Amino acid sequence: MESWSIHQYENPYLDAEFSSQGECLEITSQGESFEIQASSLDGCDILRLINPRDECWQLLLSGKKESELGDLVEQMDELGIIREENQSLDHLQTFRRRVDSLVFEALEILNQHDEEIDEKILESIWIDLNNVRKGEFSSNEVVNEHNFYLAILKGLFCSWKYSNSFVLEVVSRILEEVLNKDVGNHTLEIGFVIKDQIKEIQECVTSFVWCVCRSQGKDSERHFFREDILIDCTDTGLNLGITSEKLARDCLDAVSSSPYMKALYQPEHQAVLARATYIQEYFINERFVEIIAPAIAKKLPLPLKALFRRYYAEEIGHEAFERQTCITLGVNCTDLDSMIPLPLTQAFCDVFTWLANEEVLAYFLSIVITEGLPGEKNIINSVLASSSIFPDDVNRASLEHEDLNDELNHQMISRLVLSQISYVSEAEQERAIKLFLLVLELNCRAWDELYRHHVEEKRPLCPMSMRAFFTTEN
Ligand SMILES: [Fe+2]
Ligand SMILES: [Fe+2]
Repeated sequence: MESWSIHQYENPYLDAEFSSQGECLEITSQGESFEIQASSLDGCDILRLINPRDECWQLLLSGKKESELGDLVEQMDELGIIREENQSLDHLQTFRRRVDSLVFEALEILNQHDEEIDEKILESIWIDLNNVRKGEFSSNEVVNEHNFYLAILKGLFCSWKYSNSFVLEVVSRILEEVLNKDVGNHTLEIGFVIKDQIKEIQECVTSFVWCVCRSQGKDSERHFFREDILIDCTDTGLNLGITSEKLARDCLDAVSSSPYMKALYQPEHQAVLARATYIQEYFINERFVEIIAPAIAKKLPLPLKALFRRYYAEEIGHEAFERQTCITLGVNCTDLDSMIPLPLTQAFCDVFTWLANEEVLAYFLSIVITEGLPGEKNIINSVLASSSIFPDDVNRASLEHEDLNDELNHQMISRLVLSQISYVSEAEQERAIKLFLLVLELNCRAWDELYRHHVEEKRPLCPMSMRAFFTTEN
């Protein structure tokens, strides 16, 4: 853990009163008195610390002030008499302004698409949202929803309820405005504000607006929805896993000639696609801890608990491999940290997290989506490694990641976990498979979205605002 210092304060000041006692200085703060030996210190300097604007603080914070005063400030900080200037109301106001402008931006985009969006659908989204908020939502509604984007929206609401319930309030406000709902006071209740929290909200609202706008498009029916899954007996978790792997292979074969996969082999698209791809890989890997944490937090018997703890220990930090490839490809780190991921990449991580939280069996099946199906090679890595337009070692870090994944048998984690499940009812098998196929489709659609966004529409590699996903001037 990093060490604590006065640099962690934005505007520190000394919250105390002083009186001189001969060689000593008596400091009184919040009813408590302390004596300090300050003979060699300029008493004036200490008195100046009462004012957070005093130049003395700048000198101290920049290390230009004599260390004796610095040591004294450190001691006073330990005693809790250095305080942060209270600007919390300003911070609240800034946060409210940012949320307002995010809502405004979302409304502007939705209004631009209002001819494509059926009000009845918006109404049904609003009802789902409220049911999730009230705890009256059944996840069967996700399982059986035929419209891909509406199914994802429902899954996102379920996810945000636990991961960031404030997003549900923001999204609700957007829908109320669009639907002209008279709900009285629109002011969002805010209990506390976390620094930079707005970015997380912005990412979620972007995927919300994206799914709403796409929900009425011609390609909104679920591709991998199966009514004909033949389940006629109860089974073991392992058999269920093997069945879902087979279904996944069938589905993936059907989309193996997707525009993304075709473009991947074309050198003229590889510069853009490689960067966009590894950015996406980085974001998904970076979310590993949030995704696995709800599953680990369950009361699991020892063998499963041990498996998950081991998986956690082996996988944590692997985003560094993908980040390194991004850097090698020339992606700017500051851009990477401040950009908004593609809406479906964001949705993939959020829906996956929801499964780990509330649909654990489907989560166990879905681990193969990020770790790879047994025996399968990473085609993207190998195509880009042999590309004529890059140096040989352009994705060395990602190839090392793949080798490590093989070494650690991560493609078999899903089976290892499922081998601990001795019985699954017919209904539960069907639910888990349908959810698994939804997440698999989400993953495939995220790649297609990446192709459309960066290759077809030539949009910026590192979008910094929601608008960047919707503007038409590109
Ligand atoms: Fe990994
Ligand atoms: Fe892995």
